[in-house]
Amino acid sequence: MTDELQTPAPPLQQQGEDGVRVIYDPIADTPTSYLREPEEAHPPMDYQGYKSTALRHPKQPLIYLPQTITEITGPQLGPVLMGENDNDLTVQHDGEPIGERIVVSGRVFDTEGKPLRGTLVEIWQANSAGRYMHRWDRWPAPLDPNFSGAGRCITDDEGRYTFTTIKPGPYPWGNHYNAWRPAHIHFSLLGRAFTQRLVTQMYFPGDPFFPYDPIFNSVRDPKARERMVSSFSIHDTVPNWAHAYHFDIYLRGPGATPFEEAH
Ligand SMILES: [Fe+2]
Repeated sequence: MTDELQTPAPPLQQQGEDGVRVIYDPIADTPTSYLREPEEAHPPMDYQGYKSTALRHPKQPLIYLPQTITEITGPQLGPVLMGENDNDLTVQHDGEPIGERIVVSGRVFDTEGKPLRGTLVEIWQANSAGRYMHRWDRWPAPLDPNFSGAGRCITDDEGRYTFTTIKPGPYPWGNHYNAWRPAHIHFSLLGRAFTQRLVTQMYFPGDPFFPYDPIFNSVRDPKARERMVSSFSIHDTVPNWAHAYHFDIYLRGPGATPFEEAH
């Protein structure tokens, strides 16, 4: 630990209509260091089956930098950043999007099982026909003028997030002959520290494309692959409205085991 780490982070202040106000309190129990994850914890950056990784992976070994206050504090987020419909992707346009309406929810924990409140959860996804509203996505599936496919929310005091959206369709991606991505929702999470950033994909149970998808299978540990698959939740369904999937997420935890102080 460096001296720099012992300096408490100042509260972020913002000039509002009623003067200077604190928009996010420093979190007293933020650890002073975070675990280094083993290399096998994530897919390799150069994975033969996923062709484009050959061009974009780093050619030199990674250099680990010491964690400083920059990595262990922030991001400074708060509910003031959220729009009213940011976590409901079905009401962001004049009309209703087409497809299976679903609720996707879960909780965000650190590796010690502590719920992480105030975590920014962002998602992006294809529409029900498997097409993104993006200028580079030109495959012949219909766009839905009532579905942009992007949402965000901040976890509550129990680490819980909820989205209402449309179940995405699978899409072809040209990696190899007859390559189709299993239906998925992209997730980005920003925990209490920048070292807890996680970008991942959520899948749906029983997808027939799992065995053929190099991206899904680049996570080589079968148990880790299971953790990317949501579960159907009858409990979270909304009668006569939406079915539901549950997806819990674990971010990196503290680097040291806390001990009680001697009495
Ligand atoms: Fe995708």
